[in-house]
Amino acid sequence: MINYCGVEFKNPMVVASSPLTSKIERLIEAEKAGAAAVSTKLAFIRQPFYGKLRMHTYLNNGSIICYDRRNDIEESLKLVDEGKKRTSLKIFTNITHDSQDMDGWAYLAKKHEEAGADLIEANMVCPNIGLSTKNIRGESAISEHEHGGAVTGQNPERIAQIVKVLKETVKIPVVVKLTPNVADIGVTAKAAEDAGADGVCIAGAQSSLPLVDIYNEGKPQYRLLNGVSHGSLGGPSTKLMCFSLVANIAKKTNLPIVGGGGLETWQDCIMMMMWGAKLVTVCTAAMWYGWEVITKQVIGMEKYMQEMGYSDYSQITGKSLQYLRSSSELEALKGWATVNVEKCIGCGKCEKPAHCDAVKIVNKKAVIDPEKCLGCGICEALCPTKAISMYVAE
Ligand SMILES: Cc1cc2nc3c(=O)[nH]c(=O)nc-3n(C[C@H](O)[C@H](O)[C@H](O)COP(=O)(O)O)c2cc1C
Repeated sequence: MINYCGVEFKNPMVVASSPLTSKIERLIEAEKAGAAAVSTKLAFIRQPFYGKLRMHTYLNNGSIICYDRRNDIEESLKLVDEGKKRTSLKIFTNITHDSQDMDGWAYLAKKHEEAGADLIEANMVCPNIGLSTKNIRGESAISEHEHGGAVTGQNPERIAQIVKVLKETVKIPVVVKLTPNVADIGVTAKAAEDAGADGVCIAGAQSSLPLVDIYNEGKPQYRLLNGVSHGSLGGPSTKLMCFSLVANIAKKTNLPIVGGGGLETWQDCIMMMMWGAKLVTVCTAAMWYGWEVITKQVIGMEKYMQEMGYSDYSQITGKSLQYLRSSSELEALKGWATVNVEKCIGCGKCEKPAHCDAVKIVNKKAVIDPEKCLGCGICEALCPTKAISMYVAE
């Protein structure tokens, strides 16, 4: 069991707010797959624009979401109510609203609490409902038509104002899902913490643009949209960036973190926890490859915990933070790349890096000059037989 903001979770797995959590049938699937929790599809009192899912997908890289069908409040309340009655999932309810209308935020939160939600997840992340409608035209990010999402999450005062209202309104925990589209997420997370937020949720969701057809006037390759907006990025290309966001928040606040962004394997989930997350979220990987992704992650994490002799996920949360230093505190350790000649097949991949003078293929084997080795580690990454490793000298 994991205690997150006073709510008990049977494991760290939360299925992230998305089409995976937009209807009751999917919540049932999420539970069957082994998830402990879901974050329901984003709810508005009235959504600012309707549309079916439109996204650009590049396997092994990411998906850029231009828009998705959100839920109006009635649909969302029904979903939460049924979700609580028909599953034993813990439910985060993902809501957003015009950031200048506090009554609207309070109404959304109160209604979802009454419907049975376990936690409020205030959406200050979605780039589609703010950044892409305003910034692209060069307009001010804050306007009277601001629809929440990432625009709100860029403004520490607004975050604080909304968190305070939510905290005054509901008894269930208030978690803020913050946009990564800021200079320092530590600042916005701190604003949420100081205002009384119980937790914070992190995802890639960087505003991004898709590949275009270079033989067709630069038209975006995906066909079911008449153009493109700065969409929200999900998937493996965001993973390392999300580690950084989570670790930054873990260092700068005491907020318990729900960490997601590009988590495809159970090892990814464990790493996210080691960078500071208490719970993890998954979306794109399950949208690409099915519910079995979640099952494998849950089983894999549990097996890992047993094998490593950990009795509680809190024992791994933030373990890697001890290695996080400012760059001025880093010391380069002396060392160089070395070759295991038995394993080397002389393919020459390691000889290619354009910046390197250290590696040569001699008699069909890699030979490395320690004096010339810069220590970049690229040859180790390129080697198909794992014949190269970085040697650390005393
Ligand atoms: C199609 C799609 C729709 C999404 N809709 C929402 C949403 O309604 N609310 C929200 O907070 N996040 C939404 N997200 C973001 C996900 O919840 C998740 O945080 C993000 O995709 C990062 O995780 P991933 O890399 O595992 O996909 C959506 C993502 C996708 C792919």
